[in-house]
Amino acid sequence: MCGIVGYVGSKQAVEVVMEGLARLEYRGYDSAGVALVSDGELSTAKRAGKLVNLRNLLEEEAPPAGTLGMGHTRWATHGPPNDRNAHPHTDCSGSVAVIHNGIIENFATLRAELEERGHGLASDTDTETVAHLLEEELKGGIGLAEALRRVCRRLEGAFTLVAVHASDPELVVGARRNSPLVVGLGDGENFLASDVAAFIAHTRNAMELGQDQVVELRRDGVTVTDFDGKPAEVKEYHVDWDVSAAEKGGYDYFMLKEIAEQPRAVADTLLGRIGADGRLTLDEMRITDQELREVDKIIIVACGTSYHAGLIAKYAIEHWAGLPCEVELASEFRYRDPILSRTTLVIAISQSGETMDALMAVRHAREQRAKLLGICNVNGSTLPRECDGVLYTHAGPEIAVASTKAFLTQLVAVYLIALYIAQVRGTKWGDEVFAMIQLLERMPEKVEKVLETMEPVRALARSLADERSVLFLGRHVGFPVALEGALKLKELAYMHAEGFAAGELKHGPIALIEEGLPVIVVVPPRARDVLHDKIVSNIQEIRARGARTIVIAEEGDHSVDPYADTLISVPAVPTLLQPLVTTVPLQVFACELATAKGHDVDQPRNLAKSVTVE
Ligand code: G6P
Repeated sequence: MCGIVGYVGSKQAVEVVMEGLARLEYRGYDSAGVALVSDGELSTAKRAGKLVNLRNLLEEEAPPAGTLGMGHTRWATHGPPNDRNAHPHTDCSGSVAVIHNGIIENFATLRAELEERGHGLASDTDTETVAHLLEEELKGGIGLAEALRRVCRRLEGAFTLVAVHASDPELVVGARRNSPLVVGLGDGENFLASDVAAFIAHTRNAMELGQDQVVELRRDGVTVTDFDGKPAEVKEYHVDWDVSAAEKGGYDYFMLKEIAEQPRAVADTLLGRIGADGRLTLDEMRITDQELREVDKIIIVACGTSYHAGLIAKYAIEHWAGLPCEVELASEFRYRDPILSRTTLVIAISQSGETMDALMAVRHAREQRAKLLGICNVNGSTLPRECDGVLYTHAGPEIAVASTKAFLTQLVAVYLIALYIAQVRGTKWGDEVFAMIQLLERMPEKVEKVLETMEPVRALARSLADERSVLFLGRHVGFPVALEGALKLKELAYMHAEGFAAGELKHGPIALIEEGLPVIVVVPPRARDVLHDKIVSNIQEIRARGARTIVIAEEGDHSVDPYADTLISVPAVPTLLQPLVTTVPLQVFACELATAKGHDVDQPRNLAKSVTVE
């Protein structure tokens, strides 16, 4: 969702803040704004649209020099994305400025009360109420941090708030509930941001903030309390990647870079998890082997691309670990009545660790006393803190909104967990687990091979740029891959795209087939003969009805040659691992097709990287 940056130090705040916003723009790009404090004056500048609009405005109207400031990129929740609703928002006197990520659920009541007391609100946002509430609290003569604590106690919902005041050029305050905020600890300067990417060029030392905490940021120190003002315990950590990981490194788009990084990301996620004896060691998981032996059901919750990783995990967990596994959209999970107990393991998959639906699902599962395991890519994010254990993926920062390398590493993580449970519970022989681990270790090289052969896929994508619709078919683990291929195309190319289980074709989707309709079919390995042959029949059925068939099959599978208008070959790997190689051409396809249509693949319309509201 929205991106937030706060700074106090000795550098020009506007430069630090704008640089941070550029690194956070993937979180939202409906509008952007900054607030700066210098010489007892508060100045703000804001513009609808991408950050470049704000940058142009700042070039036209030179901002005041000053060493304290904050900035915001918005993903609109309340009110359309225009200049008026862009953050920062100020109070009646123009002395306090506030930026916000999240949703203040009781804002309508608060707003009505404020209007009754004579405040004039200039925007449609929930955020602006906070500026006016701060104004009222400050009239009592208290400081900005105490005022923010008092206001936070009255707010319901999810929020990260950052505020500055005209009269204090040394203080930035922030508050956090259910929405991300991290502190960057510099030398004579400190930072606040939605994620570390915003300040990674200045410091790799960070501090996690917990739930319901308020932080006071000065150039020479940071104080953290709870909402009642009691000192809070906080954890410092070192970020294990540097600024180059958050830059495009010669690629036109982050997405291209992230697709290319997949072999390394897969290798890094396997690193250190396989002992010298060939057995898996998932030490950081923090769930004991005894607890895993007692598990009798697994439920996976996730959203978007991470949900597709969950769907694939089900096949691996049931096959290797022999445990029943359900997969649920995190946003649906707590609104039904899931049957959970102490022996249920809930696995939440989230690249960002901040997706609100995933966090709420985890909290719901905790109330039912289930064991909680997170699969997460962002150190210091909320999800790992809310789970009993975590398995980190090591994809490095993923900045393009549409997930690619994080997805492949999530697959690696779920394979590791399924094999680990198999090892602990003895549902597979040690040598079977070891053989599969050895195959997993060869996957970076297989993914690399796929990437080397993508030119025809790019050419195909360009040739289909004017199509209105593309369908995707798969069976078994190829079905979630089809869903992921369709999601990528929707996200990036804004085209009608749908993934189907090929077995369902005759129950409806076949009615969509018409002359020339492109249909991408993911074919399982030949070794799975029944499954394989069934999908080859499906290809014939759609081709007979005029579909243009684009077939992804393993190298040497000539059985599909007569029915494939276009054949995309991928290295032969075992069925369960096949998504690691079949997803890559679909990512490349969607990225190239969207680029051919002139879209910005890093920042697709209406989307945000991390959805921190329900
Ligand atoms: C958003 C992003 C998707 C992502 C999903 C889940 O919708 O645009 O790319 O898959 O959130 O995000 P998470 O961080 O929980 O994996």
